[in-house]
Amino acid sequence: MHFTSAPDTATIHQLIARAQAYKRDPFPAEAPGRHRTLINLFFNPSLRTRLSTEKAGYQLGFQVITMDMAGGWQLEFEDGAVMNLEKAEHVREAAGVLSQYCDVLAVRSFPGLEDREADYEDRIITAFKTYATVPVVSLESAIRHPLQSLADCVTIAEHALHLRTRPKVVLTWAPHPRRLPQAVANSFAEWMLAWGEVDLVIANPPGFDLAERFRAGTQVLHDQREALRGADFVYAKNWSSYDDYGATAELPDWIVDEDKMALTNNAYFMHCLPVRRNVVVSDGVLNSDRSLVLQQANNRTWAAQAVLGVL
Ligand code: CP
Repeated sequence: MHFTSAPDTATIHQLIARAQAYKRDPFPAEAPGRHRTLINLFFNPSLRTRLSTEKAGYQLGFQVITMDMAGGWQLEFEDGAVMNLEKAEHVREAAGVLSQYCDVLAVRSFPGLEDREADYEDRIITAFKTYATVPVVSLESAIRHPLQSLADCVTIAEHALHLRTRPKVVLTWAPHPRRLPQAVANSFAEWMLAWGEVDLVIANPPGFDLAERFRAGTQVLHDQREALRGADFVYAKNWSSYDDYGATAELPDWIVDEDKMALTNNAYFMHCLPVRRNVVVSDGVLNSDRSLVLQQANNRTWAAQAVLGVL
């Protein structure tokens, strides 16, 4: 059993309940990680994912090993490659070897944002799933960030209790100076739709629609203010273009600020972090008591425990 995308509706509900149970009682008497090893493999930087997954692993009783692949051999992912250049090891051997040392293998690998077909085949996480003989957990792949999305579901569930109706959740594109993956936004949409407990609206500029498979069945508006009206939760994130693959745009007016939040139903503000202050979101919104960014980060630990605890 792997954990790399959104599971079915029933399982999402179970995962949320399990995460909440670990939040109340982090150290289970029957430690599911006892005498087992978790390896976290990072091809890209991280703060939250690395530390929350390590903490989750330790609290479940795992022995935890984290490796930054900047210090490892460069891996080849192509089958049939003649490996006479800089790539010293094939993923077949690497995944096979790692499986000798651990019981669960967690991997973070971002997309190149140059070759859409390759990125959307999610080749790196797929290769590890193919060649590892232990369960593989995504710590964010080229196109998805499922542990973040599970933590986001937990955060929304915790803060939607007072609402009389299904919460309106707006995923809004926001400005950013760099080209970013679509993974967080794809996954957020995928999980919100699979969870089935919220009404999701996506706001993004023309040319920034997410891939059809992630936004199917969702209202997509190109007018951010219209989308934000009556929102209960505002989830801001930048992503580069899927259509003009990897392209970005300078659109500072898409910042989430106090004026825009005033259009909402006193909405909570969410972002996965790290966030660029006064580019993505104003100081006023981020510093307000409606900001849930630290609660989201906190819930990453319980989300990771909910997943690792059953693998
Ligand atoms: N939200 C998140 O995944 O943060 P890191 O990139 O710091 O792990």
